[in-house]
Amino acid sequence: MQYKNRLTLAAVLAASVSAANSTQSVPSSCSIKSDATASSQADLDSYSGCSTIVGDLVLTGDLASAALAGVEEIDGSLTIKNATQMTSFSADSLKKISETLTLNQLTVLDTASFGSLEEVDTISFVTLPAVSNIITKLTSAKQITIADTALESIAGFEDLDEIEVFNVNNNKGLASIDSKLKHVKTALEITFNGQSAEISFDELEWANNITLRDVSSASFAKLSNVNASLGFINNSLPSIDLSTLEKIGGSLSIVSNEELTELDFSNLTSVGGGFVIANNSKLATIDTFSELSTIGGALVVTGKFGDLEFPSLKSVKGGADIESTASNFSCDALNKLQQKGGIQGDSFVCKDGQTSTSVKLTATGTSDDDDSTATSDSGSAGSSTTSSSKSSGAAAHFNAPGSSVMGAVAAIAYALL
Ligand SMILES: *[C@@H]1O[C@H](CO)[C@@H](O)[C@H](O)[C@H]1NC(C)=O
Ligand SMILES: *[C@@H]1O[C@H](CO)[C@@H](O)[C@H](O)[C@H]1NC(C)=O
Ligand SMILES: *[C@@H]1O[C@H](CO)[C@@H](O)[C@H](O)[C@H]1NC(C)=O
Ligand SMILES: *[C@@H]1O[C@H](CO)[C@@H](O)[C@H](O)[C@H]1NC(C)=O
Ligand SMILES: *[C@@H]1O[C@H](CO)[C@@H](O)[C@H](O)[C@H]1NC(C)=O
Ligand SMILES: *[C@@H]1O[C@H](CO)[C@@H](O)[C@H](O)[C@H]1NC(C)=O
Ligand SMILES: *[C@@H]1O[C@H](CO)[C@@H](O)[C@H](O)[C@H]1NC(C)=O
Repeated sequence: MQYKNRLTLAAVLAASVSAANSTQSVPSSCSIKSDATASSQADLDSYSGCSTIVGDLVLTGDLASAALAGVEEIDGSLTIKNATQMTSFSADSLKKISETLTLNQLTVLDTASFGSLEEVDTISFVTLPAVSNIITKLTSAKQITIADTALESIAGFEDLDEIEVFNVNNNKGLASIDSKLKHVKTALEITFNGQSAEISFDELEWANNITLRDVSSASFAKLSNVNASLGFINNSLPSIDLSTLEKIGGSLSIVSNEELTELDFSNLTSVGGGFVIANNSKLATIDTFSELSTIGGALVVTGKFGDLEFPSLKSVKGGADIESTASNFSCDALNKLQQKGGIQGDSFVCKDGQTSTSVKLTATGTSDDDDSTATSDSGSAGSSTTSSSKSSGAAAHFNAPGSSVMGAVAAIAYALL
């Protein structure tokens, strides 16, 4: 693999950067006035006698290169923005930035070197079209956002175990992300990058929520828990292997993945929110949810699948909408589950190639209710209506306004799209 340019936060010093002049006068105060902006090397040199500077250092202007020498800690933020002539920057003594490191709108920057940086609260790298590689030695960071860069790979952050937010978006040349993160406390989002990004998070044990879009492969070898939601939206990946995953606290959404043919969720026992598998045009078999026993929201599966199996499913709390256009799909198993009271919520719809079942359920259904409280779609009291209606659409679904199934689908779609 070739890296044209490097954004190096490791112990690699950019040779082209001239070292700061250490004979400059030491300022009596190493604190930065708010709203002060550095725009020349001399401005930066005025801090070279400070091992710690307090305040927010903002660098901008027409410099071709710049260096912050001597400073080991910034008790505040470091922002370099709109320096559209700058090709290189270095701050190789800097160990800690208590707040945010921002590199923004540096259109020709190809080398940034933070050779000692281990600790930073937030990293924001946005609009760096000439930077194509990142390497870091960071051991502590809360949030990392990398957007609109020319990065081809992100293999850095190797010493980082835990983070709150890891957000990589709109890096159109991105081909791979290889991460050793173990825990993501808030959100892992990889979205709108190059269509062919291959990502691997093989040390990840749990994440609060995960959203992936536009990735061509994803590997999560140790993921056992997603505390909130997990979404695979509009990816080009052929398979999703999450066989180590045991629990999803919120919703699971697998939507509009055109190349998807294989799923493995063989250890998943519960989904706390909605369960949505929709618009994956090549997904014909959904039979790996062998341990799944409870779904806390709605169950929505639409597509061309012939095979849909939930052998352990006991309870779906938010209704169900199952629609297959495959003629050999059968609703029998789901109809049985519904008749046993396993599907609560306010509506149950199941359509296969030939028939459809549509049942309006009472909102208070419990697993003991059986079908005794179910009413038909037309609103008259009675049992489930099963109509033979070759795609006539007679069994129109969701007559009930505010149906929880639609509510859940809409909520998930809007959260993720
Ligand atoms: C960026 O800097 C240029 C001058 O170098 C200035 O004209 C422009 O307004 C600045 N843009 C922003 C967004 O600050
Ligand atoms: C997520 O779940 C893991 C494993 O159950 C737990 O250790 C962790 O504290 C949870 N994280 C959040 C943010 O709730
Ligand atoms: C991710 O989790 C946080 C906290 O639980 C939540 O506020 C946020 O909406 C979630 N994002 C998505 C896309 O689900
Ligand atoms: C999926 O991605 C393609 C290509 O990036 C885009 O044209 C399309 O609108 C996306 N679809 C959805 C549902 O986001
Ligand atoms: C599935 O779970 C069982 C027991 O919790 C475990 O022994 C097994 O290794 C898991 N399978 C995978 C592929 O992680
Ligand atoms: C599936 O695609 C159809 C048509 O493209 C769209 O109307 C529907 O909202 C999609 N479903 C989901 C869950 O995204
Ligand atoms: C349904 O038909 C498709 C081909 O049309 C076939 O590949 C699939 O195995 C069938 N599924 C079942 C459950 O018979």
